[in-house]
Amino acid sequence: MNKTKDNEKLFKFFSYLLLCLLLLSLFKIVYETSDYTKKVTNESIIIKKQIYENDKNYNINIFYPKVKNVKVNNIINEYITNYKNDFIKRSKNNKNAFLKIDYSLTFIKDYLIVYFNIKDNTNQKRINKSIIIDTNENKETSIKNFIKNEKEFELIIKDKVTKKYANDISKEILKLNINDYDINIKDNYFYVTFNDLEINLNYVPTINFKIRDIIELDDIAVFNEVENNDIKQKKYIALTFDDGPNKKTTNAIIDTLSLNDSKATFFVLGNRIKYNKEVILRQKAIGNEIGSHTYSHKNLTKANLNEYNEELNSTNILFNEITSDYIKLLRPPYGAVNSFVKENSPYPLILWDIDTLDWMSLNAKKVSDHVLKNVKDGDIVLMHDIYESTAEAVKIMVPELKERGFELVTVSQLAEIKNIKLEKGKVYRKFN
Ligand code: NI
Repeated sequence: MNKTKDNEKLFKFFSYLLLCLLLLSLFKIVYETSDYTKKVTNESIIIKKQIYENDKNYNINIFYPKVKNVKVNNIINEYITNYKNDFIKRSKNNKNAFLKIDYSLTFIKDYLIVYFNIKDNTNQKRINKSIIIDTNENKETSIKNFIKNEKEFELIIKDKVTKKYANDISKEILKLNINDYDINIKDNYFYVTFNDLEINLNYVPTINFKIRDIIELDDIAVFNEVENNDIKQKKYIALTFDDGPNKKTTNAIIDTLSLNDSKATFFVLGNRIKYNKEVILRQKAIGNEIGSHTYSHKNLTKANLNEYNEELNSTNILFNEITSDYIKLLRPPYGAVNSFVKENSPYPLILWDIDTLDWMSLNAKKVSDHVLKNVKDGDIVLMHDIYESTAEAVKIMVPELKERGFELVTVSQLAEIKNIKLEKGKVYRKFN
């Protein structure tokens, strides 16, 4: 009896021990995970800040991170402020100057890398910049601190550079000091960019290699904010512009779109494309879509069949003379559609579900606010590319839409993405 009890006690003891060990090991994993998260979130209570300035001579759109640590923020702010001031000085001799800065963040051990992607048409020399911050010391530091072996690193660089670039370029690159390198980390790859070269190139040399080659992978916690953003499900919309083209305002809109890797659809009037061939050709080259808005903005529900056909054919012929391509979409003026218009249309009829009323308000903020407040995946947005206020509205809304995870595509692309086959004579207001 006693012996059995002893055995039972022993069994219980070992069971507890096992359970404790199990719990301890579990606890350890949880602890490490939470520590990692804490460490990242401590530094990364990040607020995305924007500076938007528009002047006669320039347009500035800067995104930069604000983290919890004031000293770290000062380093970031100082760089942004200095760059911006230099840009404004340069823009005095440069009409239509633009500056766009975006960023990504990476944490490696106690180091934070802020990588700025810079688009600046007044400064061909530098297109990006990385700032490495030691978050224990709260000061700017060098790449030397987190690479395994500086010599080995230099050898990898030398090898990659000489293989990738011609002799004279390689020589210039290898003149740079390790502290001059701008670095970025993305998808387990380490990118080294060589700005500030003595020779003039129309590109900035960059090489990349696996992180594992230069950093002890066990030691690092990479947190890439941009990657996190990419995980968000993509949303797609089509911005559309009617009644153009107009040399000044249409070109301004195209500039903004290109700068933000975005596309749109322009429903043009035949009687305006005659005098704006360059704008049409530029649109085509960039990949924007061009549809018909008739020749003379005629209300097609009030036209007879001859007038109807003439409105569409003359526009198509002109378009074909300029681009060797054919019109594929129609936006009926005033959005006026009836069975006559549908039955006789050789094109799909593209209407909209978000009407900005930009022609009525002529107010950039109202227009951009309306879009930002109402837009959702699959929407078609109506604007007019003949107003300066609309061009301004596009400058405000496009970077913000991209920021919110929208991809801006053409009407045909949007239909394709949503698996909708466009049919002639059918009305489309949205694709969702
Ligand atoms: Ni119109």
